[in-house]
Amino acid sequence: MKNFLDLADFSREEVLDLIALARRLETHPEPQALARKILGLVFFNPSLRTLSSFQVAMMKLGGSSFVITPGQGTWQLETKLGAVMNGAAAEHVREGLPVLASYCDALGIRAFAEGKDLHYDLAETNFRAMASVVDKPLINLESAINHPCQSLADWKTMEEIGVPQRAKFVLSWVTHPRVTPIAVPSATVHMAAHRGMEVVVLRPEGFALPPEIMDKARAAAAAAGGSVRETSQRDEALAGAHVIYAKEWGSTTHYGDTAGDAALRANLADWCVRDDWFANTHADCKFMHCLPVRRNVAVADEVLDGSRSIVQREAHNRLPAQMAVLHRLLAR
Ligand code: CP
Repeated sequence: MKNFLDLADFSREEVLDLIALARRLETHPEPQALARKILGLVFFNPSLRTLSSFQVAMMKLGGSSFVITPGQGTWQLETKLGAVMNGAAAEHVREGLPVLASYCDALGIRAFAEGKDLHYDLAETNFRAMASVVDKPLINLESAINHPCQSLADWKTMEEIGVPQRAKFVLSWVTHPRVTPIAVPSATVHMAAHRGMEVVVLRPEGFALPPEIMDKARAAAAAAGGSVRETSQRDEALAGAHVIYAKEWGSTTHYGDTAGDAALRANLADWCVRDDWFANTHADCKFMHCLPVRRNVAVADEVLDGSRSIVQREAHNRLPAQMAVLHRLLAR
């Protein structure tokens, strides 16, 4: 493995191999596998799980890591190509990232979408520009439209609790006080399709995922024997669901328009997952969310604290899943 940028770069069998390696590392630790290896972690955006689980993963495999949070104790880094750097940023990623890469064996970068121009973000313009100046194995820690580490952990979680391959997987929009990125929903719809599931994207009008994202997921579903569709009809979507995966995301019809997005979601407060969402699901339906989550805005306490919720398991699985990625990238 050269990089870990997108789950779509790996066949279904290769993903299952990575999950098997993650399981093996849980039961048969390899505390020296990455001895003397160093992982650099660059976070342009906040994190709790990704930041801590990658550092712990390196420690458990015998390696070490350093963290750069541009602008917080380090120079602020400019990411845009062609920028006239007369503002706060003192250094461009075109200089900064190759320097950091030269100190380590692999680099991880988290850089969210700009959230202004949908096509600019769909093209992963900033992330691709950064990747082009890194000559070491690169890990996507969440980019404009992807979060492969989360998807690998989520897939592992479904395997270990026995969610059938052909089960109905409902990715549901839930509300949030602010505009949030489309990275996790984009990665998640693809992940479930790649696993071969019956995928339904449930979202109100104005929040459809872009055709580029849906087409990619449909291609993965076609290869794996699953399906992907979308609807705004909650009762029909949730009927018979084996998994409800909730996620907040911003309007795609009002992308970059904060006021327009806010107007759209003003009457959508009932898009908060409550126990009654499970009235007609499969009896053993599970609840998933990548975290962080706003309690009683996006998801009610009764769901997060109830027996259907596997959100803690998903978060825990970030650790073994990423240990497997690091092992494949760096172990000799
Ligand atoms: N799910 C996830 O990536 O969490 P963090 O943003 O806390 O890393």
